Amino acid sequence: MSTFTKLCITLSILVSLLASSTNAHLTTNFYCQTCPSLETIVRNEMIKAIKKETRIGASILRLFFHDCFVNGCDGSILLDDTGSFVGEKNAIPNKNSARGFEVIDAIKTKVEAACSATVSCADILALAARDGVALLGGPTWTVPVGRRDARKASQSDANNQIPRPTSDLATLIKQFQDHGLTPTDLTALSGAHTIGLAHCSTFKGHIYNDTNIDSNFATLRKKTCPISGGDTNLAPLDVLTPNNFDNNYYKNLVGFKGLFHSDQVLFNKGSQDNLVRAYSTNGAKFSSDFALAMIKLSKISPLLGTNGEIRKNCRLVN
Ligand code: HEM
Ligand SMILES: *[C@@H]1O[C@H](CO)[C@@H](O)[C@H](O)[C@H]1NC(C)=O
Repeated sequence: MSTFTKLCITLSILVSLLASSTNAHLTTNFYCQTCPSLETIVRNEMIKAIKKETRIGASILRLFFHDCFVNGCDGSILLDDTGSFVGEKNAIPNKNSARGFEVIDAIKTKVEAACSATVSCADILALAARDGVALLGGPTWTVPVGRRDARKASQSDANNQIPRPTSDLATLIKQFQDHGLTPTDLTALSGAHTIGLAHCSTFKGHIYNDTNIDSNFATLRKKTCPISGGDTNLAPLDVLTPNNFDNNYYKNLVGFKGLFHSDQVLFNKGSQDNLVRAYSTNGAKFSSDFALAMIKLSKISPLLGTNGEIRKNCRLVN
């Protein structure tokens, strides 16, 4: 028996003794015996995917958020619509914008080859989101695992529970609170908008109708987002460094260069102004708060024990 395997088993026993072993829960060593190569596989596939398209790290981070906000981190967003099944992919916040599913499929294929019928799609998504952030220069953290996959999905819950870019601060705070997340978690997690792209339709109202926006920034964004049409044109969420996971999102907010109405409400003479200012000058504070908030996000209502299933194909229930 290798030293690693001994350590893995010893740790598993200690952890289960410490945390009354009767009730199932997420743990950091859940797969250490059953799929020791899991984290290496996910990371190597994410390295490949980001080399092919930098944006994919952002897209997978968003997929994870949209999975967790709809009845927990249970892989429900990965399920395809079929003749007899309505999933979440065509809910308003996901339709024509949720992306990265092929990368999750590719990781799942590799993971099945190494340790078949063992690792959930929900856990793969949580690990892939973490690796995407780290590979783009952001913080890293240990992902508690042991989630199982949902056998159902809800398009209406996706429509109702995923925040809209036109939301005001009170609505955002309420939606995060409903998921066990604090206003600080909201402001830290919104820093994910330091990477990735958005469609003109999602920020048109903000650049044409809102007054809490830098006029040069509004002019710049209007160039590729006309008042009429152009709805599918893309713009970076972070005007400064769209491919780097850094704290420039908050510098943008302080300069009234948030892309969405829902971004700028975090710095608009409201309760989050001081925290936005702090993150804008203290990248280390942002990094550590973001990592902690991601762990909290990842713990929303997991399916555990014998609930749910380990999907064979992330797009279909078994
Ligand atoms: C606070 C409420 C939030 C709202 C209203 C919101 C809204 C949006 C919208 C409208 C887009 C653009 C989609 C498109 O046009 O295709 C977007 C993109 C994105 N969001 Fe959020 N979001 C929120 C929070 C979050 C959180 C908490 C995360 C992750 C922790 C996140 C990660 C991302 C990323 C990375 C992108 C870029 C995706 C890509 O390039 O494919 N967002 N968000
Ligand atoms: C701007 O506001 C007007 C008046 O409320 C509204 O009719 C219009 O649709 C808004 N424009 C955008 C792009 O949201």
